[in-house]
Amino acid sequence: MDSIVINGGKELRGSVLISGAKNAVLPMMAASLLADGVTTISNVPNLRDTRTMASLIEVTGAQVQLDYPEISIDSSTVHTLEAPYELVKTMRASFYILGPLLGRFGKAKISLPGGCAWGPRPVDFHLKALEKMGASIRLEKGYVLAEAQTLRGCSIQFDFPSVGATGNIVMAAVRASGITEIKNAAMEPEIEQLCTMLNMMGAQIEGVGTPYLTINGVKQLSPIHISVIPDRIEAGTFLIAGALLGRVSIEKTTPTHLKALLEKLHSSGTQVDIDKDSITVSSPGHIKPADLTTAVYPGFPTDLQAQWIACMSTAGGSSVVTDTVYHDRFSHVPELNRLGANITIENNSAFVRGVKKLKGAHVMSTDIRASASLILGGLVAEGETTVSRVYHIDRGYEHIVNKFQSLGADIKRIQS
Ligand code: EPZ
Repeated sequence: MDSIVINGGKELRGSVLISGAKNAVLPMMAASLLADGVTTISNVPNLRDTRTMASLIEVTGAQVQLDYPEISIDSSTVHTLEAPYELVKTMRASFYILGPLLGRFGKAKISLPGGCAWGPRPVDFHLKALEKMGASIRLEKGYVLAEAQTLRGCSIQFDFPSVGATGNIVMAAVRASGITEIKNAAMEPEIEQLCTMLNMMGAQIEGVGTPYLTINGVKQLSPIHISVIPDRIEAGTFLIAGALLGRVSIEKTTPTHLKALLEKLHSSGTQVDIDKDSITVSSPGHIKPADLTTAVYPGFPTDLQAQWIACMSTAGGSSVVTDTVYHDRFSHVPELNRLGANITIENNSAFVRGVKKLKGAHVMSTDIRASASLILGGLVAEGETTVSRVYHIDRGYEHIVNKFQSLGADIKRIQS
């Protein structure tokens, strides 16, 4: 397993190009199964997760052409309505295959996703909604066996605005008979782009980008070409690095997707300059502490919580970081403490006491965003930090070592 080795304390200066959004392209790839023909998607990041989704789609018999950043998916040859455990266990987003297969073919056998590094992640919202739409759902040997002659439109209210459940149900509803309404739908930009893509394919979805969606089922969807929105979580990660260590610009980004982070950076004393599709941050030298509570979009994203804790670790005072989306997403905290941070956890809050400096050490990644927070910690720490199990970071960050090198970081990847 490879590691990333960082010699910290270097000033970061320059600009990085943000890649396409992982959490947008994964459901979009699944959505291509809804249309008989060749869908092409551009600005696709070359990640472990996009390669996994491509393999999963190939298992169904569809043909995938990967010419990053362009991919094409020909779903006219789908013959196997399955998503096997071997692939689903490596990526929870595999579950996005369920909605399209059920919506187009009336049948699907999908492995239940396992838990993840920070605890169980159920799919009850997905299954309950599909049953309400008339699907018969059976669980057998860790698989979901779903069948529906035709899915019927109905009214669905999510207890929590789940990103995955909203995506799956929208993809099931676009070819259902009648009208489906989804109340308390996720409003994340990635779900907004999925709905936009489906409407371009001929779906009839109203309320796109709002928590109330109505979907009028249609008989057929056609393949299209679409470009993926920029990755707001990658963008936020680099902005936090700039706030800590210098002056960093991110290009090809959508500032409106980052409002909550930009407000927090501002309150931490960071200079923030916003342009049409770029943002520049300048470090205040010493970061001011800023409490944070994550929330669903447009609130502060849980996927930047770990990176924010890394940022607060050397702030001039104490801060409280609370995660309301995942109450146990703190596996990065013991590793940051190995770098000399002073963080304690109580329920779903981290109490971060800013320390003068972090000191390099060996630390271990546990998930995509935890890895990013450890890299940020290593960039700030005095001396050498080795981040192991970087296959986690490969899932969600394209060329992260090269991008940080281009900003002046002393960072390299080593095979081990
Ligand atoms: C998506 O996961 C993202 N993944 C996650 O990003 C992100 O952290 C999460 O949304 C929250 O924003 C992708 O888009 C591929 P949820 P998802 O369903 O869809 C509970 C990353 O780092 N819930 O919105 O799985 C769930 O337990 C990844 O890129 C149920 O209880 O998240 C959680 O507490 C990590 N039952 C909350 O809802 C369900 O059926 C939010 O989960 C579904 C969800």
